[in-house]
Amino acid sequence: MFDTDDIPSNPTSNPHLGDMIDARLSRRSLLGGAAAMTIAGLVAANASSVAAAPAGRRPAVGAAPQPLLGFTGITPSSDDTVRVPEGYVYDVLIPWGTPLFPGVTWNEDASNTSADQAKQVGFNHDGMHYFPLDEGREGNRRGLLVLNHEYTDASQIYTAAQGSAITADAAGKEKVAKALAGHGVTVVEVRQLRNGTWTHVVGSKFNRRITGTTPMAFSGPVSASHPMLASSITPKPMGTLNNCANGTTPWGTSLTCAETWNGYFGTADATWTASALEARYGVSRTGFGYNWHVAEPRFDLAVNRNETNHFGWVVEIDPTNPKSTPVKRTALGRIKHEGATVTEANGRVVVYTGDDENGDYVYKFVGDRPWRMHRARRRSPLDHGTLYVAQFDAVGGGTWLPLVHGVGPLTVANGWVDQADVLIRTRQAADAVGATKCHRPEWVAVNEKNRDVYVAFTNGSGNAAPVNSNRNPNPYGHIVRIQEAGADNTALTFGWDIYLTAGDPQYDPTVPATQELFGSPDGLWIDDDGRVWIQTDISNSSQNLASRGYDRIGNNQMLVGDPTTGDLKRFLTGPRGCEITGISVTPDQRTMFVNIQHPGESTTFWNTASGAPTVTNPSAVSSWPNGGTSRPRPATVVIRKADGGRIGS
Ligand code: FEO
Ligand code: CA
Ligand code: CA
Ligand code: CA
Repeated sequence: MFDTDDIPSNPTSNPHLGDMIDARLSRRSLLGGAAAMTIAGLVAANASSVAAAPAGRRPAVGAAPQPLLGFTGITPSSDDTVRVPEGYVYDVLIPWGTPLFPGVTWNEDASNTSADQAKQVGFNHDGMHYFPLDEGREGNRRGLLVLNHEYTDASQIYTAAQGSAITADAAGKEKVAKALAGHGVTVVEVRQLRNGTWTHVVGSKFNRRITGTTPMAFSGPVSASHPMLASSITPKPMGTLNNCANGTTPWGTSLTCAETWNGYFGTADATWTASALEARYGVSRTGFGYNWHVAEPRFDLAVNRNETNHFGWVVEIDPTNPKSTPVKRTALGRIKHEGATVTEANGRVVVYTGDDENGDYVYKFVGDRPWRMHRARRRSPLDHGTLYVAQFDAVGGGTWLPLVHGVGPLTVANGWVDQADVLIRTRQAADAVGATKCHRPEWVAVNEKNRDVYVAFTNGSGNAAPVNSNRNPNPYGHIVRIQEAGADNTALTFGWDIYLTAGDPQYDPTVPATQELFGSPDGLWIDDDGRVWIQTDISNSSQNLASRGYDRIGNNQMLVGDPTTGDLKRFLTGPRGCEITGISVTPDQRTMFVNIQHPGESTTFWNTASGAPTVTNPSAVSSWPNGGTSRPRPATVVIRKADGGRIGS
């Protein structure tokens, strides 16, 4: 019942954002010079964004301007259901196990095989994007959903007879194969029916599963033939695991991110010890207890040591070409990527990413020339550019530090062989240049109206730095707003401020008394009108518990903020044991897709009340979405406004 991301593996004495926030808050009343300019700049930039109302919600001349958040917020909920505001409706789409191809059925007793799972929607839906399939209005009614599947739950995906343990026999191998097939990515065609609801298209030519065994290519400075990737068991790279958040490129591809991949590996060999590189990425003999290595030598650290180096990369997928090989884009670094948020500046791509572990860092990749120029020469814009890591100062400023071989400490004399070495050891390179330790950086969102960058720091402890909100421990998390110099996302310096401090003022007086209660922000997205959508992932060891200060916050939820006024409203609450993650809309924003991940997962509060979920009682905590005693299933919810209007308006 521990949260694996809370286990730090950063041994450096690099300063932490929490220390800096303490220092910064204590100086706030004395702010002068650059820091004051930064904050004033943020306010001014946002004020100007309000004045420029976007097309579609521009008020009539003489009419009072519409508030950005046009709905009535809902209260926290601990019920085993999804709630949305009055005037909104939702439907459940593509729950785990939904057949994507003819000839496969969903078996409620979890008796579907690994081969079935490879033709069904995966488990634990996460980051997601809707790609319209048609130009113009039809694109709002027909598209591809590309969604990640972060991990599988052994108490949910196996039958009562199979049990949850992995054994060293053919039955154990089949169970690992089913778990691998439940991971990765689903590409599925979806359509809106005449009655307004949505359905998926069984057997669409676009439907595809990418799993833990799909053949992959490597591109950028690290090639598949790099000696540190050599493997006798997987001579060709395969698979992506722990696919958390996502990104979308201007050329229409989807990025999927390997997050907490280290936990899948382990070994029974008591003589195995972690190298400095393995320790820095949290690779250990026991892993997280998945025990895949018991049945599958691919994941045995003593048998197949280099397999770990195949993971931690951003993977690019062409959703419209089901035959295309997914590509690991190594120039974006090897970390526990939460997501890969792409924006465009000066014609170049900029990709922001958080390394979600307590005490790790925020990164950005900046393309070296306009992405259209690379594409015209049949090169990937994601293979050519510079990776930077963030250093936050205590007075609201910061610097992007390059992770480039030969620059600063990353020299041959210091043991750095070449750029491939820097990228395989990204975390250690970032340690060496003096990056700032953060409280678990999760999603990054860019406000395309004014270029501000928002980062969700979900929670953390042990690392004091101002950008960690001056709370140490920081059980509720916060959202930091970065303003790049000159509102240019390729800039190498920035200002920062805290946009929201999450929490319950009953337990923490630093939380504004009238602010809506929420904790552990994770998913983050800013719509075209400037609304900041915030999804929470309170850990199962804290949800609903008074002893963790979470008893009034309810189940995980989604809120919406107005960055100018500071207004915050709750838009959705999820069922028991779930997290809310993944968000995308049709181009007209009249349909929104949101994922309910791990409903009914083992949760301290609910386990006490109703027993822990097991293979014999998978619905102990939740039976969402089907109710009764049915097995809980991660799923997408499709949200519409009853009057057909823009979501959030
Ligand atoms: Fe998979 Fe950091 O959330
Ligand atoms: Ca997440
Ligand atoms: Ca989670
Ligand atoms: Ca999370």
